[in-house]
Amino acid sequence: MVQSTGPKKIKCSVFISGTGSNLKSLIQFSKKKNSPISIKLIISDNAKAKGLKFGKIFKIPNKVINYKNKSIAEKKIIYELKNKDIRIICLAGFMKILSKSFIKNFKGKILNIHPSLLPKYKGLNTHQRAISNNEKYSGCTVHFVNSRLDSGKIILQKEVKIGKFDTPKSLAKKILLQEHKLYPKAIKKLFNL
Ligand code: GRF
Repeated sequence: MVQSTGPKKIKCSVFISGTGSNLKSLIQFSKKKNSPISIKLIISDNAKAKGLKFGKIFKIPNKVINYKNKSIAEKKIIYELKNKDIRIICLAGFMKILSKSFIKNFKGKILNIHPSLLPKYKGLNTHQRAISNNEKYSGCTVHFVNSRLDSGKIILQKEVKIGKFDTPKSLAKKILLQEHKLYPKAIKKLFNL
């Protein structure tokens, strides 16, 4: 359980690599009165990440981190997070794998959203794999991040029915819509809201 500090919002950082539609939904959520989080920093490993523009619209500071050297990159990120007194990290389409020591540093404070019903379909190409296996349902999961990929404690999941004519692309679209609702819900759940 992440401890809330009363009426003050918890300082949060969102990590992205690309489109940032989950970032957008988290920003909208964070602006609500009953949201327990306030997004104070966006981290991206990609200067061209489309999502960076959402942060700019809301004047949320961002740092683009060069990931040529992972250990240096993570040191820089930790510096930025401590500098802004960040208490909770939301990974939202962040395509880099965090090191064990980074995760240890923020134990129990890192969340991720994954486009499958974990523990099924960890890793990439989740929609293609679910369709190829003739699954009737797929969905999305918000979970804590631990040192094993997509394996941390599950906070919340949402099922999405796979239609007869779904392609990986159409399924991704359907699931993404649910992701935008699930991430805020999972954060509320964490704070018992
Ligand atoms: C989402 O499907 C998320 O579950 C996965 O990467 C995608 C990111 O989408 N980890 P966006 O950048 O939030 O639009």
